[in-house]
Amino acid sequence: MIDIHSHILPGVDDGSKNMEESLQIARRMVESGVEQVVATPHYFPHDYHLTPAEVRDRTAILQREIVAAGLELKVWPGAEIYISRDLGRKASNKQLPTLNNSRYILLEFGFENFPPYGNDVLYDLKVLGLTPIISHPERYLFLRKKDVLLEEWLAEGALIQINSGSLLGFYGKRAQERARFYVKNDLVQLMGSDVHRGDRDRGTLKKGLEALEKQRIGRDENFMENARKVIADEIIIP
Ligand SMILES: [Fe+2]
Repeated sequence: MIDIHSHILPGVDDGSKNMEESLQIARRMVESGVEQVVATPHYFPHDYHLTPAEVRDRTAILQREIVAAGLELKVWPGAEIYISRDLGRKASNKQLPTLNNSRYILLEFGFENFPPYGNDVLYDLKVLGLTPIISHPERYLFLRKKDVLLEEWLAEGALIQINSGSLLGFYGKRAQERARFYVKNDLVQLMGSDVHRGDRDRGTLKKGLEALEKQRIGRDENFMENARKVIADEIIIP
């Protein structure tokens, strides 16, 4: 399995606090069948924002520690980028880490509101040849009144990623119901764990995929095949 959304990189954001915790996350991943993971630390305009080179270097350090601990887990560099008006400019200046340096850029929004310039930013990124992946829309409150945005994003070439924990109810009933609705309506292409902690299980990828099967929603094979394509920088057709 390939997890394209994780806060496994130590000491960057609100995810793993130190290398010990990162190795704990890595161990849990390996135990649940994850073979590859993309480190996607938060990228906020005024808070933490590692450059692509910094993410690459820190990922290499983590990778060495994982190997030294005897774990078989490949870690790729990435980021989860918070929307801001100037993302197009930053992307054209090569300041934004993408998922394993591919065309795929993981984006997150504020929970309450979608900014008025949001679709312009998606367009700016598209013009640069990048494909935005919108992370965990099932958790956004603003989408609960405006589902149509999801279809607009897909029509504009963006992709949708849900959290495995959402299907398991870890973010509440409403997020669970939304995640199931999106999957059922073929609006989702990718699943990630969005893991933050080593000692708390918010729902591994494996459990999320099992939930899909149990709840008879299906399509898990596409999620993992699409994750492989993200890392390999291959085209995904929604
Ligand atoms: Fe995240």
